[in-house]
Amino acid sequence: MEIALNILQINSSVQLEKSHSSRIANLVTARLLALHPDARVRLRDLGRDPLPVLDAFAVSALFTPAEQRTPEQVARIAHYDVAIDEIQAADTVVLGVPMYNLGISVQLKSWIDAISRAGVTFRYTATGPVGLVKGKKVYAALSRGGIYRDTALDTQAAYLKVVLGFLGMSDVQFIYGEGFAMGEEAAQRAETGIKAQIDALDVGL
Ligand SMILES: Cc1cc2nc3c(=O)[nH]c(=O)nc-3n(C[C@H](O)[C@H](O)[C@H](O)COP(=O)(O)O)c2cc1C
Repeated sequence: MEIALNILQINSSVQLEKSHSSRIANLVTARLLALHPDARVRLRDLGRDPLPVLDAFAVSALFTPAEQRTPEQVARIAHYDVAIDEIQAADTVVLGVPMYNLGISVQLKSWIDAISRAGVTFRYTATGPVGLVKGKKVYAALSRGGIYRDTALDTQAAYLKVVLGFLGMSDVQFIYGEGFAMGEEAAQRAETGIKAQIDALDVGL
């Protein structure tokens, strides 16, 4: 019997129901569900329910041996543990990636901080770092007011490629939704482009 695909969708827009990145991520998930109707989808909406930011309290909790942690430290780390469990359980990850002030949202950064844990999702060896989150396909649905693809200003795609690769996720495909703030025609072109990019995704296992 074939084991059902586990899809993890992470939305990270604060524009909630108006979000383009969440909508594009939904379209990607719908394409995957069309191929795998019995897939399980876990949706985490960081815009509505953000993870706690990686602050001094969190770092000190992470560096405290587990048996010495206070109940408050245990509770904080539990938030991050759930995010790690979700990514480890997923076969496929769909990320909604809005551009805010030329970067990713603080909500998405907090998720990346939550899942990046030495000894668990990556480790250092004598020959350098090794990612421990293996065997996942990642689709990143980007949305922007302007157009930055293949320019130096597209630091989001470059950063995501590097940080996800560092954790072991080197199979990352990007779907660009760009020009949403550049008038009706540009927005229409964006929609056509999104549809074509989703149709062209490599969705093989
Ligand atoms: C606070 C804020 C900052 C933004 N900064 C940028 C920006 O630096 N460059 C850009 O092209 N668009 C920018 N935009 C437009 C967003 O990229 C656009 O609304 C995109 O659709 C965001 O994704 P979302 O719809 O999923 O929230 C910004 C929008 C907001 C609300």
